[in-house]
Amino acid sequence: MCGIVGYIGFREAYPILINGLKRLEYRGYDSAGIAVMNGTTNIYKHKGKVAELEETTRTKNIHGTIGMGHTRWATHGVPNDINAHPHSSQHAIFTVIHNGIIENYAKLKEKLEARGYKFVSDTDTEVLANLIEYIYIKGEVSAEIAVRLALAKVVGAYGIVIMCQNEPEQLIAARKGSPLVIGIGNNEYFVASDATPIVEYTNSVIYLNNDNIAVIKRNELTLKTIENLQVTPTVHKLTMDIDAIEKNGFEHFMLKEIFEQPRSINDTFRGRISPLLDEIRLGGLMDILPKIDQAKRIIIIACGTSWHAGLVGEYLIEEFARIPVEVEYGSEFRYRNPIINKDDIIIAISQSGETADTLAAISLAKSKGATVLGICNVVGSSIPRETHAGVYTHAGPEIGVASTKAFTAQVTVLTMFAFMMGHRKKLISNQQYKQLITDLVAIPQKIEHILEMHQEYKRIAELYKDATNFLYLGRGYLFPVALEGALKLKEISYIHAEGYPAAEMKHGPIALIDNKMPVVVIATRDKSYEKICSNIQEVKARKGIVIAIVTEGDTVIKQMADHVLEVPATNEAIAPLTTVVPLQLLSYYIAVMRGCNVDQPRNLAKSVTVE
Ligand code: F6R
Repeated sequence: MCGIVGYIGFREAYPILINGLKRLEYRGYDSAGIAVMNGTTNIYKHKGKVAELEETTRTKNIHGTIGMGHTRWATHGVPNDINAHPHSSQHAIFTVIHNGIIENYAKLKEKLEARGYKFVSDTDTEVLANLIEYIYIKGEVSAEIAVRLALAKVVGAYGIVIMCQNEPEQLIAARKGSPLVIGIGNNEYFVASDATPIVEYTNSVIYLNNDNIAVIKRNELTLKTIENLQVTPTVHKLTMDIDAIEKNGFEHFMLKEIFEQPRSINDTFRGRISPLLDEIRLGGLMDILPKIDQAKRIIIIACGTSWHAGLVGEYLIEEFARIPVEVEYGSEFRYRNPIINKDDIIIAISQSGETADTLAAISLAKSKGATVLGICNVVGSSIPRETHAGVYTHAGPEIGVASTKAFTAQVTVLTMFAFMMGHRKKLISNQQYKQLITDLVAIPQKIEHILEMHQEYKRIAELYKDATNFLYLGRGYLFPVALEGALKLKEISYIHAEGYPAAEMKHGPIALIDNKMPVVVIATRDKSYEKICSNIQEVKARKGIVIAIVTEGDTVIKQMADHVLEVPATNEAIAPLTTVVPLQLLSYYIAVMRGCNVDQPRNLAKSVTVE
């Protein structure tokens, strides 16, 4: 959840660290800090955003070519100056930044206190810093050995970077659970939670594996396991484009990412749809297609927005490929002793590829012998490396904390998967297949059209920005879209919102409806159209305010609803891809008008690497 950046080389570390932290701020933003070594280790940290850290340090003349920085999403201890990272050990020998949770920190802390250690912060990270120092002094060992022995005592997850005052020419980095990437330059190295702070300096990277410890000097990198076995690093080439991680004139990353969707969906298609639109080929799955053909059941595992994409996947796969599908939250699946068979296919969906609960669910499924596929956005992240096969969504970096283009890319992959499997199983004729693919590739242009009407969304946002509750209703394929619309609104505008299958409204939520309640109904023309018209009538009969997402040219709902937002007609199975866009825009404009920090909503972080 936190962002980590480190540098060792010949350049001034300070600007690299500050710029790196700005890029990583989406991972956590309640406090920030840096440490730069130049004879002594100087630490600057406080509560608040990276911009505030920059403001207070800019005039401090910070020089040094080794350093590290951290942007925090609090787990242990409230966000304040003292709990901000980096943390020093008691005798200031070690400085540590950490992403993750040391689960046995209380026990370790008790033992260290019994040996005279005093703690200034409430964090688990300070415990780790002191544990390393204690072992270092007591055992008279090198920093590397002290780190290794300390980590052997730690239960939990970590991505850490460590500096040792007595061995000033190195950084030590280690990973268990929380991601770390090392960038390789000429006589310089970079370390970060993801590649965004690195990409402007080098495109050669090493993804640290679990239980690996790297000792990084200016011109040398040694990689070992926690058991002290030498590891040969695998160098990967980054394909990330620097423009992809800039706002490029948009006020927020979220808005940029909403507007990128026509492009990002085309990128998801790229190389996977034949020029004649008669074949879908998901290269990453080719080897295991025979296994999927035989699958008796698919279990989709995800969290949050990715889980909503999974629900759309359930509807698609069951309809077109006739394979039974269950959709599970990673956090529930991993703890509820689920029945997993060897011939089950598990599909894990994750934008970041680092979500702790999804990762834990994957390892449970693998331990029971199931085949696990990944649908992920971040190339080289943990989930693609833990799964047997998979498909990258290729949506490009998603920086806004609220997921938008990743959702449509995930749904695009699931749609291609369902159509492809349906065709393989001969449940769809060649002609139907071609028609479905033709409808699918027309989606980017249809989204383009929706985006052109963004002023209209602003107008409606202005009317309802002060509402305290919203209800979102949809049926069939559009029910998960209702859930996603409600999630988008609550996470960035802090307005309470609920998504429901429209027919369920009668079983409870209808009691909430009065003349102050905006009800967003996703009511494009499909087989439930008549039914959803009745649901709209039920809302109107209770004086609710209806904002309906309808198919272009709809005249029936226009008569009933207070507002209609039109989307181009499409096959109902792919309507989630168009209908979600108005909901993203509505949430965005409402949040902006309420003065909320859209890209960095309170209490949230982009990837949830703790359980
Ligand atoms: C909501 C949102 C979250 C994520 C969830 C899973 O806008 O972004 O709900 O969808 O934390 O994250 P990934 O997809 O990275 O596993």
